[in-house]
Amino acid sequence: MPTKIEKDAVSGTLTTGHEWDGIKELNTPLPKWWLYVFYATIAFAAVWVVLYPALPIQGATGLTGWTARGAIEQEMAEHAERLEPRLAAIRDAAPQEILADPELRNFALAGGRVAFANNCAACHGAGGQGAQGGFPSLADDDWLWGGKLADIRQTIAHGIRNAEDEAARTTMMPRFLADGLLSAAQVNEVAEHVLSLSGRATDAAAARRGAAVFAENCSSCHGNDGRGSRELGAPDLADQIWLYGGDKAAVVQSVSYARAGVMPAWGGRLDPAVVNMLTVYVHSLGGGEPE
Ligand code: HEC
Ligand code: HEC
Repeated sequence: MPTKIEKDAVSGTLTTGHEWDGIKELNTPLPKWWLYVFYATIAFAAVWVVLYPALPIQGATGLTGWTARGAIEQEMAEHAERLEPRLAAIRDAAPQEILADPELRNFALAGGRVAFANNCAACHGAGGQGAQGGFPSLADDDWLWGGKLADIRQTIAHGIRNAEDEAARTTMMPRFLADGLLSAAQVNEVAEHVLSLSGRATDAAAARRGAAVFAENCSSCHGNDGRGSRELGAPDLADQIWLYGGDKAAVVQSVSYARAGVMPAWGGRLDPAVVNMLTVYVHSLGGGEPE
């Protein structure tokens, strides 16, 4: 029940005018210190809005011109500036020179690991272990195109069978069945021969006939013994390592339609220093060969 505001006799404080069953509510003033802190925060907020970007408006800045984005950009620019002397040294050095200099080498391996995670891991796996479906392991010594620093650098910079780089590696295996170069029976025989190279043929007679087909159609790239050719990026067919799977169906598929795996070129996208760092990093994964 509202009653009139009056002075409380006991505390000397005014009442709010609210009363319930004879109990009146005091209007005790806020402590002075609290009130002044409260006013100070309002003043602080007002100054803040003027000086810093506080309003929800795209691109709003305060009088100081400070923005969180700008601060990060500056931090990144300072970071890049600190790294630049090392990057410049790596950019100008041949990969062999980077390997020979322990400081550059450590820097390149650390940078290469990050660049690999960002650009390569999606296809080649986080540790370069490769993936089924034509993505070779970069961590073993089974190389399609070569494991020397110069080979690896060439592959990374220009890629394989891509349309964007004229210096890309280009050898294409013919589509033997699809283009009518071999009959289905011959494909079957040559597949048996390929399996026999790793001791897995199930039809010895077909494998023997397939040897002749192989000598005529395949050995120019894969070699007489099926050991492959790095000049042509033709895989070793006599080992246990398969890009596309080594069972009969996968081999028949490879021979019938070819695979033509594509790897993008990185020379035009990444800083040459990063290409060098990646070269040293991939070389270090386990299969790097001496020059
Ligand atoms: C879109 C998928 C893809 C990405 C991304 C990719 N690669 Fe590849 N890479 C391939 C394929 C496919 C091959 C095998 C092509 C072939 O059949 O010859 C390959 C082959 C290679 C080879 C040759 C291996 C050998 O045995 O000779 C190297 C080295 C290599 N990649 C490094 C890299 C690096 C370093 C990166 C990141 C900068 C990268 N790749 C990113 C798909 C990719
Ligand atoms: C012009 C060169 C060339 C000729 C000729 C050629 N190949 Fe290939 N072959 C390649 C290349 C390059 C690859 C790598 C895979 C790709 O195309 O991405 C390959 C891949 C393969 C694969 C897949 C290997 C794997 O690890 O999964 C098989 C199997 C194969 N070839 C069998 C044959 C047989 C059998 C013949 C003959 C009938 C033949 N090739 C003729 C170049 C050739």
